[in-house]
Amino acid sequence: MTRQILESDVYQELETVLNPSVVYPDYYLKPFHAYDEGNLSWLAAAEAEAATISIAIRAIPTASSIDEATQAVRGTWLNTVEQHHLQYSGNSAVHDILDIGCSVGVSTRFLSDKFPLANITGLDLSPYFLSVAKYNERRKPMNKPVRWIHANGEDTGLPSNSFDLVSLSYLFHELPAQATVNMVKEVFRLLQPGGTMAVTDNSPKSKVLQELPPVLFTLMKSTEPFLDEYYLLDLEGAMREAGFVNVISVLTDPRHRTVTGTVPL
Ligand SMILES: C[S@@+](CC[C@H](N)C(=O)[O-])C[C@H]1O[C@@H](n2cnc3c(N)ncnc32)[C@H](O)[C@@H]1O
Repeated sequence: MTRQILESDVYQELETVLNPSVVYPDYYLKPFHAYDEGNLSWLAAAEAEAATISIAIRAIPTASSIDEATQAVRGTWLNTVEQHHLQYSGNSAVHDILDIGCSVGVSTRFLSDKFPLANITGLDLSPYFLSVAKYNERRKPMNKPVRWIHANGEDTGLPSNSFDLVSLSYLFHELPAQATVNMVKEVFRLLQPGGTMAVTDNSPKSKVLQELPPVLFTLMKSTEPFLDEYYLLDLEGAMREAGFVNVISVLTDPRHRTVTGTVPL
């Protein structure tokens, strides 16, 4: 998968997605996932989809195929999000979705498949990841063309009250706690009344994660430096403090929780 991308014409996408006015926060400029340039490199972007697939395989090691594991992890997440929106949004359909930390567009495609009539915006801080997302979309279009935006999810510059669903999948465990809190407030601003914020990520209550051998956890922390801050942050509390109601956390697979909340109607 990596070779196919590195040997393609993906490079031409960079100038179409790059927003030269983006100022990268310090945490984003440090080595990450064992890449010296963190997410700001072609190699990280080309390897991202394979790395994403490994999230599902590790979560469901008993699955008989990659597809089965992926469908189990992504399917439960999407059903939980849809259920939350149906129950608390006051019957509003999902028209406009924002996928913050969309990476190379894997979560964006799952959202497009689940909500085929919705307009979807994918937002990420890495123009390399966004280039791969655009390249993937060119090869295999989604239900509707996606708007790809190069910006910081803490301060997107997008209009207030402009989305019904903002999704953040597997993003927060990569951020310092303050960046997460900033993003929660930004998502509250971006959602319409009745809109749903949906986070899916590692669950601090997961027995599997709690019982990881310490040496493995230390290894993970060496490439994901904010894991401690992530596990110590009271995410549900931060969401309530920002104004969200109906904040609910569900263990959607043995490793991951999906946390949803509503902007009051
Ligand atoms: C693990 S990936 C997300 C995977 C993807 N959402 C999925 O479910 O397949 C985390 C992404 O968050 C992005 N990111 C990190 N900090 C960000 C920020 N402050 N604003 C926007 N995106 C950010 C990274 O560039 C990376 O693409």
